[in-house]
Parts: sequence; structure tokens; C-alpha cells
Amino acid sequence: MNVYDSARMADVLRPLGYAPVDRPENADMIILNTCHIREKAAEKVFSELGRLRKITEERKETTGKSTFLAVAGCVAQAEGKEILARAPYVDLVLGPQTYHRLPEMVARVARAGGGVIDTDFPVEAKFDFLPEEAAPQTSANLTAFLTIQEGCDKFCSFCVVPYTRGAETSRPVSSVLDEAKRLVESGVKEITLLGQNVNAYHGTWEGRSVTLAELADKLRSIHGLERLRYMTSHPRDMEETLIEAHRDNPIFMPFLHLPVQSGSDRILKAMNRGHTADEYRNIITRLRQARPDIALSSDFIVGHPGETDEDFEATMQLVKDVTFACTYSFKYSARPGTPAAGQPFQVPEDVKDRRLARLQALLREQQDAFNASLLGTVQDILVSSTGRKPGQVMGRSPYLQPVHFEGDPSLIGRVVKVRITTQRTNSLGGVLCEEALAV
Ligand code: 5AD
Ligand code: SF4
Repeated sequence: MNVYDSARMADVLRPLGYAPVDRPENADMIILNTCHIREKAAEKVFSELGRLRKITEERKETTGKSTFLAVAGCVAQAEGKEILARAPYVDLVLGPQTYHRLPEMVARVARAGGGVIDTDFPVEAKFDFLPEEAAPQTSANLTAFLTIQEGCDKFCSFCVVPYTRGAETSRPVSSVLDEAKRLVESGVKEITLLGQNVNAYHGTWEGRSVTLAELADKLRSIHGLERLRYMTSHPRDMEETLIEAHRDNPIFMPFLHLPVQSGSDRILKAMNRGHTADEYRNIITRLRQARPDIALSSDFIVGHPGETDEDFEATMQLVKDVTFACTYSFKYSARPGTPAAGQPFQVPEDVKDRRLARLQALLREQQDAFNASLLGTVQDILVSSTGRKPGQVMGRSPYLQPVHFEGDPSLIGRVVKVRITTQRTNSLGGVLCEEALAV
């Protein structure tokens, strides 16, 4: 979502004469868009600010030009005052809900001489105030993100999102459809709908509330849109109609990111996730019945406060039962202000390390096994660029793996059939099917 937000900030600034540059050394303005989800991400902000400070000071010395330095995103939202105290050379701090006000804030900084903070949760919806996004720059821009929902009301024990992104809100259907149409007109073939709780989407359409499944059905009628994905979802909002849409909506890719976090009912309860491990297993069974070729991706946290060896083994068991194609796993990181941060029974770092290593070894095995299971199959590949070697092109499978194969650059932008023949660590190799050439 930060990638999407950064692009929209660039859109807002374009009418003021700003355009992207290749290096921070050449920039009149630098906006550091930040993430607060784990301590490591948040700490990076301060080291990165130190690096940028050096660059801007050198630029001032050698060219006499000043650089406007802003910090945006969730660290800005949560730690705005601390940022200005620790890095007083920062001109502007702005939260994720106020970037539509950037032009006005830039003017305010000019008047105040720096040190402006805007971390309100404004009553106006920022999407109503953003300009239409600029068309993607090149023909290779075949995939795009599109934010349809933001914020979260679920308050998982470990998570800062409800505090930094605010309450759950959905964009109206017409605004989403307009943006999707513009993207497709500019050449985009695949859209990933974004939201912190994207499957809780409930945008309005002609006075009534529309679900994600219904929105996807409307998107399906946009001519030229070939692939649709969404992330991130919550198991609690995985309603039957959405599961059925995976069977009925042909533009839905057979790949779903559905974070489970833990396989222990005790820890799921402590996390305030609102479902059990078996309920998660049941959702996966129904998804696989609806769409047999579906592959699953997930997020895991090890070492949530109170997690015992037995709880961790339950997570390992869930992974073995479900089998995942791709996953993200993290050591629990205490975030200030969240309920879990203040709980007793914090798990020691070395225990977290050992658990994470075991979990990641199992997950890696499953990812390799999934990739191997595609050998010999024919997959639809959205060709996006020329490949590593001359004469090769590359594209993405429905499961987002990069696939390299011999082919003409004129295939770029098309979905073609490729037989998968080789497996490398992070990519696959294949051979273009004859019939794909005839189409
Ligand atoms: N510690 C570790 N991981 C976290 N995540 C969210 N908050 C924390 C935290 N405090 C992980 C969750 C979530 C993903 C985006 O980041 O797994 O799904
Ligand atoms: Fe955070 Fe996701 Fe839980 Fe919301 S549902 S609190 S975004 S982990």
C-alpha cells in the first residue's frame, strides 16, 4: 500500500511542477514513506533520515540548493513529534490519511520555515481530493495496485494498523471502477485490489452496500482487464459468496493471501483474531473445493506473548495440514500502545529465533514443493519484459512466480501458455506452447 500511496503523492505534486528524479542527490523534495508494522521497519526510518541528511547537506554545499525533506506514512502518524525532535532538519511530517493536502502543506512549510506536522484523521475522504492518477509511464506497466479499502477495526493484540491507518473505510464503487477503467485504458492487464482488510470491503453503489465479490463482478466487465487479485484479507471476512466468486469469476487468479498468524487456538484467542485454527482449515477446504487449482499464501507470527512450545507445535501442525505456496513469517515485535506489548510472558528472543528458523525451514520446503509441482504443467503467463538472456522474455504465473522462456518481445503485454520445464531458487523456466503462438 505504501507503493500505491507514494505514486498518489507524486500525482498530487505533479501540478506543482514536481516530477520524479532518479537519485536523491538530484531531488528538490524527498518524501520518505514509512512503515510502522514492526520495530525493525520503524527504526530504519531514523538511519535513513541520517543518510538523507548527509545527501541534502552536500547538495546545499555544492549547488547552493536546499532540499525539502518530508516523512510520510505510519511512522509519521505514530511518532510525528519524536521525528521532529530527533531529526529537526525534517520540514514536514504527514500521516497516511492527509497526503491529499500535500500542496497546501508545502506552502505552509514555506511560511513557517519547516517543522510542520499533519497527522489528523480528516473528516473528508482523501480519495475525493486526489487528482486522477497519472497514466503509467511505460508499456511494461501491465500490473497495478488499486486501494479500495483502508484502516481496520479488528484490533488484533499485536498490531498498530488500527491506530496508524485509523477506522475501516471503503471507497465508493464508482470511484474504484473509474480508476480501474483508467488503468486498463493505459494498458494495465492485472489489478491487485488493496486494503488492510480488503475482504471486509463494503463500498456504496446506488445507495446500497456492495461486497468485494460484487465489486469483482463489476470489474470483470471492464474489457481488457485479464487478472484480478486482492490483499490483505482476514479469515473472518472470508464469506461464502467470496469463496464462490473464486469459482465463478474468471478474472480472479487462483492465488490467495490469507494470513492466519498462528495455529494455536489459545494464541489466536490472545491475538483477538476471532477464529480458531479449525475454522481456518475449513475455509481453506471450501476454497479448494470451489477452485481446485488455488494456492495459498499466509503471514505467521512466532513468539506472541504467552506462546508455549505446545502452541508453536500447533502452528507447525497447521502448516503441515494446509500446505502453503508462499509465506511471510515474523518474530513478534512489541509495538508501543498495542495490548500485547504490555502483556506478561513475553517470549525470549532466542526462543523466537529458534521457532522462526524451524517454521521458515518447513515453509521453504513447502514453497519448493509447490514450485516443483508445476513442472510439466502449462501455465498462463502475463509477459512483462525481455528476459535475462537474449531471445528470452519473462512474465508472471497466476501464482506470481517469475517465469523465463524463449520468446519474441512482441509477446510483452499478452497472456500466453507456457509449459514449465525447470525450477530455480526464485523463478521457473519454461517453453512457449505452439498453440499460444497461433492465437
Ligand atoms: N510483530 C510481528 N509481526 C507483525 N505483523 C503485524 N504486526 C506485527 C508485530 N507486532 C505481521 C502480521 C501481519 C503482517 C502484515 O505483519 O503477520 O499479517
Ligand atoms: Fe492488524 Fe490485520 Fe489484525 Fe487489522 S486484522 S489489526 S490490520 S493484523
